[in-house]
Amino acid sequence: MAKPVSIEVWNPNGKYRVVSTKPMPGTRWINLLVEQDCRVEICTQKKTILSVEDIIALIGDKCDGVIGQLTEDWGETLFSALSKAGGKAFSNMAVGYNNVDVNAANKYGVAVGNTPGVLTETTAELAASLSLAAARRIVEADEFMRAGLYDGWLPNLYVGNLLKGQTVGVIGAGRIGSAYARMMVEGFKMNLIYFDLYQSTRLEKFVTAYGEFLKANGEQPVTWKRASSMDEVLQQADVISLHPILDKTTYHLVNKERLALMKKEAILINCSRGPVIDEVALVEHLKHNPMFRVGLDVFEDEPYMKPGLGDMKNAIVVPHIASASKWTREGMATLAALNVLGKIKGYPVWSDPNRVEPFLNENARPPAAAPSIVNAKALGLPVSKL
Ligand code: GLV
Repeated sequence: MAKPVSIEVWNPNGKYRVVSTKPMPGTRWINLLVEQDCRVEICTQKKTILSVEDIIALIGDKCDGVIGQLTEDWGETLFSALSKAGGKAFSNMAVGYNNVDVNAANKYGVAVGNTPGVLTETTAELAASLSLAAARRIVEADEFMRAGLYDGWLPNLYVGNLLKGQTVGVIGAGRIGSAYARMMVEGFKMNLIYFDLYQSTRLEKFVTAYGEFLKANGEQPVTWKRASSMDEVLQQADVISLHPILDKTTYHLVNKERLALMKKEAILINCSRGPVIDEVALVEHLKHNPMFRVGLDVFEDEPYMKPGLGDMKNAIVVPHIASASKWTREGMATLAALNVLGKIKGYPVWSDPNRVEPFLNENARPPAAAPSIVNAKALGLPVSKL
């Protein structure tokens, strides 16, 4: 990082030095840290992705905690630097933490926070938006309009798919996958097929009850099925949304062979992590199957797209904005700050990281706990009784 590092400082005389590698939405997170005697330093450098060296420079000789971003490589080097500076707290401002080497953090006794619970609906809403945009070819039609090509209504102009009565497939029916499934079932009366190692009883009950409600009102009921394999979902669904975490087992989960299993007119949505799809294979598949459509929020080599993807009319691409609603992003900043603060102050860890409403209520003091520490067990941190 070119020196001097550009930094914005809040509460210069605060006892604890907390660094945020990026400006984050809202000011509540800053106020909460300042009220608890933190000096808050926010990196304002005009560089989107900070390197390990940039962050080492930010950490400096004394640093109690860092709030970082999913674009940063938090491994041995950074945790060692943070620990040398006296720091024992790090939080990603993200629910996913595949950019963090948790074993390295454990080695240096650094708590690693993340921000679940606040982005479930927002992320599911983007997956739903991409599904609709792909089904109804909204981006292509918008480009056509702006290019001045519309010279009158035509029966064949931008004909897409009706979702009602089709099947939505969900791979990974955790919090976000289940919220997305509910939106598509309830909003568009789609039938559900899902694959997850764990049974999603709540989701099944919801679809059953909604199906009964529709039937009682003289409408076609919706149905659900828990598939015994992921391939079954790929073969049967019309719209498929991917919601697994990224690890060794999910890398290139959707590859050439699996793309070939899908219906020729299927829609594939990915708001999880880019490497879950083999993007080179996807580009080839899109080229050979013009009616196959994809909606992507994440990419294999972010911020880049694999060659050819940007030229495909049957691909909708957005820049990793699934959690980007104002409420969610401000909430994520608050949770990340409270994770770091909680460790600095020696607070226990909140017992249910998905039930974070008490931390988000702007009219009350947040509980004296760290909302979500992923390595709490490994570090033997106490759990809150609140
Ligand atoms: C965003 O991708 C997140 O993991 O929060």
